[in-house]
Amino acid sequence: MCGIVGYIGNKKASPILLNGLSYLEYRGYDSAGIAVIEVNDIVVKKDKGRVKNLSSLNGINELKSSIGIAHTRWATHGKPSMENSHPHMDNSSTFCVVHNGIIENYNELKEFLISKGYNFISQTDTEVIPNLIHYHYYNKCKSSENRFLCAVKSAINDLVGSYALEIISNLYPDRIIVVRKDSPLVIGKSENENYISSDIPAILSYTKNFYLLDDNEFAVIYNDHIDFFDENLCMHNKEIKNIEWSASAADKNGFEDYMLKEIYEQPQAIRETIGTKLSNETSCLFDDLKISADYLKTINKIYIVACGTAMHAGLVGKTLFEKLCKIQTEVDIASEFRYRNPIIDDKTLCIYISQSGETADTIAALKLAKLNGARTLAISNVIGSSITREADYTIYTHAGPEIAVASTKAYTSQVVLIAILAIFFAELLGSCDKNIISELKSDIIELPIKIEELLNNVDKIKEFAKTVYTQKDMFFLGRGIDYCTAMEGSLKLKEISYIHSEAYASGELKHGPIALIENGIIVIGIITDSNLVEKSISNLQEVITRGAKTLIITNQNIGNLNFDNVINIPSTNALISPILAIIPLQLLSYYISKNKGLDVDKPRNLAKSVTVE
Ligand code: AGP
Repeated sequence: MCGIVGYIGNKKASPILLNGLSYLEYRGYDSAGIAVIEVNDIVVKKDKGRVKNLSSLNGINELKSSIGIAHTRWATHGKPSMENSHPHMDNSSTFCVVHNGIIENYNELKEFLISKGYNFISQTDTEVIPNLIHYHYYNKCKSSENRFLCAVKSAINDLVGSYALEIISNLYPDRIIVVRKDSPLVIGKSENENYISSDIPAILSYTKNFYLLDDNEFAVIYNDHIDFFDENLCMHNKEIKNIEWSASAADKNGFEDYMLKEIYEQPQAIRETIGTKLSNETSCLFDDLKISADYLKTINKIYIVACGTAMHAGLVGKTLFEKLCKIQTEVDIASEFRYRNPIIDDKTLCIYISQSGETADTIAALKLAKLNGARTLAISNVIGSSITREADYTIYTHAGPEIAVASTKAYTSQVVLIAILAIFFAELLGSCDKNIISELKSDIIELPIKIEELLNNVDKIKEFAKTVYTQKDMFFLGRGIDYCTAMEGSLKLKEISYIHSEAYASGELKHGPIALIENGIIVIGIITDSNLVEKSISNLQEVITRGAKTLIITNQNIGNLNFDNVINIPSTNALISPILAIIPLQLLSYYISKNKGLDVDKPRNLAKSVTVE
């Protein structure tokens, strides 16, 4: 949940580190710090608060070094403070570390180190690491040929938990050592300089050539070369990957916030995600997905497992797989799935959805399914992310980097990709009428144009946001597939506007929650399924009678009823209507948040990828 950056080369390191951190702030933003080696001494500058506070610290602009590491923090152990900010040093100021992840046995390690005479300044789990490195350097690794690496490796052997680590030492001012386990880390290679980061976009303006470090793999990074070692410290060669994203993909490109930019990128993100996989003339085709009809015929259940917005995309997927493929499909929250002994075996296909591909619960849930003999398929937006390395099969959304904490283009791209996957399965199984599939394909192909239409007409939603941004509570109601949209709309509102909201299946309201409906409360109704129009309208009338003010998002003919506000969206197949219905709701949350003067891209208490449990 933290962001780390590193640089070694021939340029001044500090501006590069600060620039990288500003891109990684979405991963955590309660404190930030950098460490560089200035004439054989490690200099650390850090404080609580955002990267811009760090940039204005005394002396930071005077740092001349061309080797350094940096960190932006989302506090887990110890409150945001200067002492708890990274980087952390050992007692002798010889080894300096930044860490993303959690060390579960840090108390035990701390006690051991205290018994050996070490002191601790912070409450963090991380501070044990530089001290352990120091301990091993002067004990176990005294006579090792590669003494620095030996000390790092020995320290790693003591750790239980997750980590992406960058380590520098004033004894070795020509190198940075990095290692990871269950937390992301990439190395960007350039001419006589190398970059390190938690994700690709943060350093995309410097290079397009990346090494994606594996779990338990070490890299010793110099300015002109990199040595890779496996967990037994045997050196090996590593393949470099060329990443095609353009550097501007990680910029705001004239938009006020990343979230707004990403909302407007949805037509393109969907076009890229459709790619060549779907066309009206031929059957769906996934280039690298070696799933056969014979295998699909053996499946009796699909599980879709994910967290947050990705889980909401999974809920739409359930309807698609059940309707088109006639395979029973269950959706579960990853943090629940992993601890409830789900019934899975070799006849279960488990699909994991994760924009970042680094969500700890989703990865653990995937590992569990593998242990139980199920095949696993990952859907991710990040090439080479952890989830894609664990899964038997991977397919990618091509939404481009998503920086805003609130997910928008990743969600709509996920739903599109799952729809194409369900069609692909249905075509292999012959489980669905060809005309239904053909119409659905046309509807998917038309989605980008329809989203553009929606994005060209935002005035009504902007106006509505102005009238409701002071509300304390809101309700989102929908039936069938519209209930999925209600849930996603409600999550968007909560996370960036801090307005309490609930999503309900409209028919369920009268079983309790209707007691909360009082004069003036805002109820947002979604109606896109022609089979459920009358029923949805009746449920909405029940809340209007009790004083609710309504906003209806619909592509159905709902007549001239007593709704306060209606937003008409383009018509499409109900199975994929969440992709269109969510657009006004994304915008509503965005404009409410702006009206409240909040930080849209970095809402309080949140981080973009939740790499801890
Ligand atoms: C989305 O707006 C949220 N910030 C959050 O629910 C997110 O979707 C969830 O944490 C899952 O992330 P992932 O897709 O990277 O696994």
